[in-house]
Amino acid sequence: MNLHSRTLSSAYMHWAKSQGSINYNLAVSGIPDYPLNEIPYRPEDIVLSGSGSYGYPPLLQAIASRYNISPDSVVTTLGASMANYLVMALLLQPGDEVLIEHPAYELFVSTAMFLGASVKRFERKFENGFQVKVTELEKIITPKTKLIVVTNLHNPTSVYTDEKSIKQLGELARSAGAKVLVGEVYLNTVFDRNPFTALHLGDEFITTNSLTKAYGLSGLRLGWICAEPEIARKLWRMIDLLYVNHGTLSERLGVRAFEYLETIVARSKAILDTNRALFNKFLDERNDIECISPEYGTVRFPRLKHGNVDRLVSVLRSKYDTLVAPGSYFEMPEHFRIGLCCKPEIFEEGLKRLGRGLDEV
Ligand SMILES: Cc1ncc(COP(=O)(O)O)c(C=O)c1O
Repeated sequence: MNLHSRTLSSAYMHWAKSQGSINYNLAVSGIPDYPLNEIPYRPEDIVLSGSGSYGYPPLLQAIASRYNISPDSVVTTLGASMANYLVMALLLQPGDEVLIEHPAYELFVSTAMFLGASVKRFERKFENGFQVKVTELEKIITPKTKLIVVTNLHNPTSVYTDEKSIKQLGELARSAGAKVLVGEVYLNTVFDRNPFTALHLGDEFITTNSLTKAYGLSGLRLGWICAEPEIARKLWRMIDLLYVNHGTLSERLGVRAFEYLETIVARSKAILDTNRALFNKFLDERNDIECISPEYGTVRFPRLKHGNVDRLVSVLRSKYDTLVAPGSYFEMPEHFRIGLCCKPEIFEEGLKRLGRGLDEV
């Protein structure tokens, strides 16, 4: 492999960062910022001296308590983005096989390609409600497979994968000597009950998560990886190659956010419940789109029955000051992704504008 044949960028991330200011931005997948002054932090949190070691112990403990695991199994990172990158970089050498769901969050695919891995895909089909079918993986797994990548909830559809299927993925991975990375950032939106995490199903599972999507705390850039302690130690040593420490302020505010999470969650739940109901009504009234409508999650992935999604995106942007994410970034160009995350008054108006755009195309 030479430098020029390597993937060195992410088309989706570039698109997402290049859209400028749009008043009805329905492309975002995270809850709007939580008001910082409502998090009960203390004067002693506002310091610049970090722990100087591997992680801030109170934060590691807060994350470990959430899962009832040892802090030795927790690695804190710059968002789930870096968590995903680190896990893939640890486990994939050039030429190793990685099985990634399709459709997928584009960063998994571009990161695997950046690392020189051989990328194989398993389908999550619209016709099957975007469920994971373990038989699809059985067809493509080989002794060269080092990693299986799945998201739960699924980005871009928000479909939930149950414990039985995740367990089967683990058994399959174990038989090939591979690991399973489960991106669980959207699992945090299953507010009504305590969703299982893949973490407790065996050592082949590594999970990533963050305070970003479900809580409106994206600016803290606080992500984490949970894995067996030996892997966690290796990940910490890899972080040494990248940067010294996480931002101290962010770590300390993160601890307070965990203490205050119930209140933060109540706000997120109210936004998502309202917007989900608005979206479901919108969907009932339209016969030009079709969509799986899961109970949870921050995003939906409708399919345009006729017409061209790129044209829809362009009309929405230029005439209606409205943004949705083109399905092409999730490798399904006849779909588009819409976030349920804006403030409800913005979301409601955004849906009206989406309706006008749909009428037009
Ligand atoms: C599966 C998945 N992991 C991670 C991220 C990014 O998370 P963070 O904002 O915590 O870096 C996203 C963002 O869309 C995502 O879909």
